[in-house]
Amino acid sequence: MMTIFVTFINKKGGAGKSTTTGNLAAAFARKGYKVLLIDLDPDPDLTDWLLPAEYNGKNSISDAIRLKDLSICVYPSNLENVDIIPSDDEVEATDDQLKTDPLGILILAKLLKKFDTTKYDFVFMDAAPHRTRLASAALTVSDHYIMPVESYFSYKQVPKMIEDAIQIRDTLNPSLTNGFILLNNIEEKTTFGKELVSIQNGPFKDITLTNMIPKNTTIKEAQSKLQSIFDYRPDSISAFAYMYLADELIEKWTGKHD
Ligand SMILES: Nc1ncnc2c1ncn2[C@@H]1O[C@H](COP(=O)(O)OP(=O)(O)O)[C@@H](O)[C@H]1O
Ligand SMILES: [Mg+2]
Repeated sequence: MMTIFVTFINKKGGAGKSTTTGNLAAAFARKGYKVLLIDLDPDPDLTDWLLPAEYNGKNSISDAIRLKDLSICVYPSNLENVDIIPSDDEVEATDDQLKTDPLGILILAKLLKKFDTTKYDFVFMDAAPHRTRLASAALTVSDHYIMPVESYFSYKQVPKMIEDAIQIRDTLNPSLTNGFILLNNIEEKTTFGKELVSIQNGPFKDITLTNMIPKNTTIKEAQSKLQSIFDYRPDSISAFAYMYLADELIEKWTGKHD
């Protein structure tokens, strides 16, 4: 199997990008796949959650960009079969620098040319909420992207994100396929939750995933214990939701049933 690259993106913060990236990686790993996480957010939530403390302060994606070598910042994560390339507080300055470089958007493509990802089945990139060069750079090397949506504010970003992705597909990355909307943090019993679920019948119904992630505090608790939902509460509704979501995505991305 060729390595599949996926970007998790939403221009609105708090939509569930980092939470989805980490727990889906754990779901894929439980299915026997090897996953590499890349934290591209200057606000390093994914790193704080999944980078073992012993690697704090070691090389980050910023150092890799400066030294033009991704291999210097790959660490085992807190999850079995998942490695992580961390972010840190230098990433904001790195991103500003990339914005002044006309070829800055190609930074990840350049680094990945010299870094062997064949041992990974999936590379998941957690992009920043705001407009960063690294978020666009992630789309230039991705096969797929996922837009978590948990409110009308994050849903409102969808057309713009699709437009940006199409622009990248038409210019720099013909392999980028249509993105998917993932409904996250859903309370199906509430009126608001029902409204969000109705997105599945709205103008973007064709790209809205059938499986959604419920609002559940065990998801937050797992993060505060530096665990995935599968390590923390393997029998929870949320753990099952991530597994079903992984099944749906594997089928969509590879055509295989798992
Ligand atoms: N399905 C969910 N149920 C409960 N809490 C969630 C869920 N998804 C995300 N959260 C919480 O919402 C907050 C924002 O999620 P996060 O993944 O950090 O968003 P983003 O990376 O898009 O900014 C975090 O505190 C996270 O724990
Ligand atoms: Mg985040």
